[in-house]
Amino acid sequence: MRSTRNIPLTLACLLVVVLFSGCTKRGSMDPADPEEAPGPAEQKLAGGTLFEKHCAKCHGALGKGTDKAPAVVGEEALSRFNTAQEVFEFISNEMPKDKPGSLKEGEYWAIIAFDLKANGVDADETVGPQNASTFLLHSEGDKADDKQDAAKGDHPDDKVSLDVNE
Ligand code: HEC
Repeated sequence: MRSTRNIPLTLACLLVVVLFSGCTKRGSMDPADPEEAPGPAEQKLAGGTLFEKHCAKCHGALGKGTDKAPAVVGEEALSRFNTAQEVFEFISNEMPKDKPGSLKEGEYWAIIAFDLKANGVDADETVGPQNASTFLLHSEGDKADDKQDAAKGDHPDDKVSLDVNE
């Protein structure tokens, strides 16, 4: 028996370790940890999938509510909450109604990022405990409005004449 026979085994162990750490990292997606937080677009996308899987059966595919549960998307929705932080505290303790607290923290944040967007607050940063109280619901002049104002400036028919011929 030659000692080189152990090399494939060692490599296999290494691979398992690498794959395993890769998995746990992806699975947790903790927005509080800059190393693990998903990007804003990725977070909203993941949130949509999670909402579909865990919430839509009661709140409806578009979050507009059903006879089982109130709307979480729309003008009247979420009226008892002021910030994304308050929504997090509620849903992470109370939802899904039939299995409260069963999702991971990062999964709740992803659902919130998705739900904020569905309500017109399209976060351009990853939503998490570090910024959740800055995302205001039902407020004039919130981040979404600022964004809309910024977007208006891009319309080509806003004829702003700049005098550059001097
Ligand atoms: C088994 C049905 C059911 C599921 C699944 C469910 N909910 Fe609910 N949800 C309810 C009911 C019923 C209420 C209203 C009673 C209450 O507020 O506890 C509610 C209330 C809410 C509210 C408060 C709405 C408001 O403005 O008062 C939010 C936000 C919410 N759910 C989010 C979620 C999210 C996010 C998920 C998925 C992780 C989810 N729910 C899954 C039944 C459900």
